[in-house]
Amino acid sequence: MTRHTIAVLPGDGIGPEVTAEAVRVLRVAGEVFGFDIDTESYAVGAAGVAEAGDSLPERTRDGVVAADAILMGAVGDPALADAPGRRRPEAGLLALRKLLGAYANLRPVAVHPALRHASPLRPEALAGVDLLIVRELTGGLYYGEPRGRTATEAVNTLRYSVAEIERVTRVAFEAARRRRSAVTSVDKANVLEVSQLWRETVTRVARDYPDVRLDHLYVDFAAMRLVANPAMVDVLLTENLFGDILSDEAAVLAGSLGLLPSASLGDGPGLFEPVHGSAPDIAGRGVANPIGAIASAAMLLRYGLKEEAAAAAVDDAIGATLDDGVRTADLARSGERAVGTREMGDAIVSRIRALRGAQPALTR
Ligand code: IPM
Ligand code: MN
Repeated sequence: MTRHTIAVLPGDGIGPEVTAEAVRVLRVAGEVFGFDIDTESYAVGAAGVAEAGDSLPERTRDGVVAADAILMGAVGDPALADAPGRRRPEAGLLALRKLLGAYANLRPVAVHPALRHASPLRPEALAGVDLLIVRELTGGLYYGEPRGRTATEAVNTLRYSVAEIERVTRVAFEAARRRRSAVTSVDKANVLEVSQLWRETVTRVARDYPDVRLDHLYVDFAAMRLVANPAMVDVLLTENLFGDILSDEAAVLAGSLGLLPSASLGDGPGLFEPVHGSAPDIAGRGVANPIGAIASAAMLLRYGLKEEAAAAAVDDAIGATLDDGVRTADLARSGERAVGTREMGDAIVSRIRALRGAQPALTR
């Protein structure tokens, strides 16, 4: 039987709770579709600081590069928000992305019909929304040098090379070919030289994809389009910081940040993590929505392990669970019963089994 090795990085906050459900889903998918999942857990974020004084300990670095794929929870313990250097939880995540060369971050946003009421936007504005944000992940202001601060001044650097722009652009165009064949590239070319280079480079790469439509939007207008006409967008291609901001905005369309998965792909094994943060306010209470993590496990199956049938089954099971009205607190309407993290995991697991006509049974 095929054996896949997954490095599991639960992180801090709600990370461990939601990741446990995603791991359970991976195991069940393996049982049903005939492959073995080997997992090994590693510390990242505040858990890494507790273990080794480092948000990305050496043991974790060795483990992730040797894995077939990486499943992560969330990092961001506010107790360490002002910690220096690599003791800040977010620094571990940024170092992890860089270590893996994970330059292309895919963030799909679709609106499940049963959840149209969960968004503050009018339900009719949400019809047909199905978009993919392709966010550049290892460049831009997040990593640019020089950077630093004194008491009276601070500096960060926005820098992109043609090669960095080209490779993420190709990811966006390849993805568009499997979707509705349209790329919207986001920049601020009316102000920034980096954006002018971005626009020129994207336009040049686009010539290799004559079957894909390309348009360019300034980032301020793109922010407006995402709420005014979100169904117009197919693939949204953007640099690192713009993508960070626009993906949280797009999450509003889906109804909850807790639903959204991501895949970060590049030179090494892929990194799969929900878009949401560590939500310290609800951590440890068993109420967090695990769907973002479970949908990230589906992306791991699809892009990391090439187990497409299993990935599709997990996606279908999530959809069926929502169709059946199962809701965590972030999705429940007032008066509606909300289930906990574990129960939502149970509901999805039983539907994966049911999709294959197997006996619904829980694994632990
Ligand atoms: C995200 C997060 C991270 C980012 C933080 C935690 C560093 O907001 O994945 O969107 O800004 O990239
Ligand atoms: Mn973000």
